[in-house]
Amino acid sequence: MNYNKKTVKDIDVAGKKVLLRCDFNVPQDKATGAITDDKRIVAALPTIQYLLEQNAAVIACSHLGKPKGEWKQSLTLAPVAERLSQLLGREVIFAKDIVGEDAQAKAAALQPGQIMLLENLRFDKGEEKNDPIFAKKLADLAEIYVSDAFGTVHRAHASTAGVAAYLPAVSGFLIGKELDIMGKALDDPKRPFVAVLGGAKVSDKINVINNLLEKADTIIIGGGMSYTFAKANGHTIGKSLLEEDKLDYAKDMMQKAKDKGVNFLLPCDNLCAVEFSKDAQPVAVGEDIPADLMGMDIGEKTIEAFSAAVKGAGTVVWNGPMGVFEFPAFAEGTKAMAKALAESGAITIVGGGDSAAAVEQLGYADKMTHISTGGGASLEFLEGKELPGVACLLDK
Ligand code: 3PG
Repeated sequence: MNYNKKTVKDIDVAGKKVLLRCDFNVPQDKATGAITDDKRIVAALPTIQYLLEQNAAVIACSHLGKPKGEWKQSLTLAPVAERLSQLLGREVIFAKDIVGEDAQAKAAALQPGQIMLLENLRFDKGEEKNDPIFAKKLADLAEIYVSDAFGTVHRAHASTAGVAAYLPAVSGFLIGKELDIMGKALDDPKRPFVAVLGGAKVSDKINVINNLLEKADTIIIGGGMSYTFAKANGHTIGKSLLEEDKLDYAKDMMQKAKDKGVNFLLPCDNLCAVEFSKDAQPVAVGEDIPADLMGMDIGEKTIEAFSAAVKGAGTVVWNGPMGVFEFPAFAEGTKAMAKALAESGAITIVGGGDSAAAVEQLGYADKMTHISTGGGASLEFLEGKELPGVACLLDK
């Protein structure tokens, strides 16, 4: 897939109306609707500020949650408009609809250097269906399309891909950075290239492992999914997570790694508990887990071995925690990997979702080269899949 795409810097936006797709899908307090983490809004600021400085009229748009084509007041983007206005220190005009009368009138009246935000794109059924009529209506509001919503590039929706059929389409700085760093890591990594994969399920990472077996020098497997690999290797795993139907796949992957000369590292010891609980007493065991215990984190020797593998790396990509890091007693493995990445001197890339949350929660966020803003999107990136929201942008 070609990651070399035109950006806002490659197109003249002065005096033009720009439709800017952002990922303002922010977490909200269920009871009050208050935004509990505005990172995604902050991440969009460099592109917005650049466009406004260049005297473009910015028509921002995003989805929020999964309203599935229904109008849901709890998922209005009004609080996002307010937060964006605070962060920019200027007015953000809010349209009461998406491509209706209010949006059309406000977009038509929008002056260079002004910004407006459309209502939640997913209130319209046409968005997720990638309906060309809805995409055309969105396009008709503007003269240029800029996508900066990396979190949604794996979706072929009207605002993430369809609209590019009607307008010149370029990326904003956020997508530009994701493509630059992650694209380079996959296409031409500084070696040794080490991939650290964790998280609960093997099934979530099948295509990632497949793709990385073609590219990485070392693959490290930790977290809940490591127990299926351990079992496939003939070890006992007690009450640990097991995906029985993935045992053959796990064997195949280990064989493939051997054939390709890829180092495939699995935990050699484990930290376990009798039950899945925050207050459970940690029990250190070796490679075999007794029948009454479940694996909750990697053990000390594994931490040493995994850290040593990361130490000499040129590039490290990390996706998925090493254990149940939400429980302090079982956070050491994840913490140690975050520390190992931070101290490695390598180009370090952390996938979105849980691993990004872990790195932030554990205080290592500013030590990483890049923390992806996409959860599902960064996984599909690592799978080597074509991303509709990237493919639709103009090539350089
Ligand atoms: C995300 O939160 O990962 C993106 O905004 C995409 O959201 P979605 O999974 O609802 O498409």
